[in-house]
Amino acid sequence: MIRLLLAGFVGLIVVSTSIVASQDAMTEEDYDAAMKEIRFTVSDIQGHIDARYWPELDTAVGRLQSYFTQVEAFWTARGTAAAAGFAQDALAALEEVTAASAAEDQPAARDAVKTLQASCGACHMEFREETPDGFRIKP
Ligand code: HEC
Repeated sequence: MIRLLLAGFVGLIVVSTSIVASQDAMTEEDYDAAMKEIRFTVSDIQGHIDARYWPELDTAVGRLQSYFTQVEAFWTARGTAAAAGFAQDALAALEEVTAASAAEDQPAARDAVKTLQASCGACHMEFREETPDGFRIKP
């Protein structure tokens, strides 16, 4: 009986650690889904800046920060430091958006979004490849 309980307990630990692991490391599919969400969130951000909706802007920026933190971890895990660096650039640009939002400075917020988009473009140039059925990570 004790042995059975113990086996069940060990099983539970194995299951829960694999759930934690899957939250930590993105798969390539998660990555593609995240990129699509990122694109939508950037257009939300532009809309909030146009409308001067600062609290909503902060919420959307927070979402992007969490995506890019995962993107950075994804590339660090693959040992691709240059790509992880572009994710860090994106995070730095998001800090600028946050500062502009706190100052309710619309032109500065727009500039920071341009800096952010430059980091998207730079990483895509180096690490994204177009195939007949969409984009993929350059092998
Ligand atoms: C660290 C590198 C990196 C950064 C930074 C980055 N991307 Fe990507 N992105 C990629 C790679 C690699 C792919 C191709 C793999 C894939 O689609 O799963 C991709 C794919 C995409 C796709 C999917 C294309 C499609 O429709 O199939 C979109 C949309 C996208 N990125 C938007 C963005 C936007 C917007 C930003 C900036 C706010 C950004 N990305 C920043 C690396 C990056």
